[in-house]
Amino acid sequence: MAIADRTFPAWAFRSPLRRATVRPAVLLDFCGPKLGETVADLGAGSGFFLEELRRRIGPTGRVYAVDVDARALALGQRLLTPDGPPVEFVHASAASVPEIPDASVDFALSNGLLCCLVDKTGAMDEMWRILKPGGRALVTFQTFTRGWTRRGRALRMTDDGFRRLVGRRAWTVSAGSPRRFHRTYRLDRPAGPGAERTAERAA
Ligand SMILES: C[S@@+](CC[C@H](N)C(=O)[O-])C[C@H]1O[C@@H](n2cnc3c(N)ncnc32)[C@H](O)[C@@H]1O
Repeated sequence: MAIADRTFPAWAFRSPLRRATVRPAVLLDFCGPKLGETVADLGAGSGFFLEELRRRIGPTGRVYAVDVDARALALGQRLLTPDGPPVEFVHASAASVPEIPDASVDFALSNGLLCCLVDKTGAMDEMWRILKPGGRALVTFQTFTRGWTRRGRALRMTDDGFRRLVGRRAWTVSAGSPRRFHRTYRLDRPAGPGAERTAERAA
């Protein structure tokens, strides 16, 4: 039987406790979008990062919010303030988002996605595809899921696994400060020649 991606109750990531302890602006200061840019929030959930993303891109920017969980997206849509750039909510797996054209996104956010989906390679390939050459991504994940069950093995994101994933493409990788079970990376999709390294190279 296929292993399902990990989803959460829609309110789990919009709780007052989270609002009090996690500040999207701090994470987006490490690597975030700029005025007028197009952004994809992959595994956007109920949209915890959307207002800060919109604030940074301003009225001429554009946001895609992608998630497999329709209820989380619906809550995100409901909580969105009326002002600001448009958000296109896309109910899809981040591993296959044909709604987002090739090389159309300046900045991708993947906060906590890689430790929740099974098809990590597919998600990283999609991120590469949708980013413009010269585009960048902010990727975070938890490493606490153990590989004791088939589901745990499918969902967990290890440091070695992440190195293998980024090694499949020509990403430039910079790490933020690691915490015990939490990792933060900035990935840049190079703009110049040689940027088209593909999976074959790593195979
Ligand atoms: C840890 S939560 C983080 C949510 C959001 N990024 C935040 O920080 O509030 C991970 C999210 O990934 C979503 N997810 C899991 N598998 C997915 C997939 N294949 N494609 C897109 N989203 C997925 C879950 O539904 C959940 O909303």
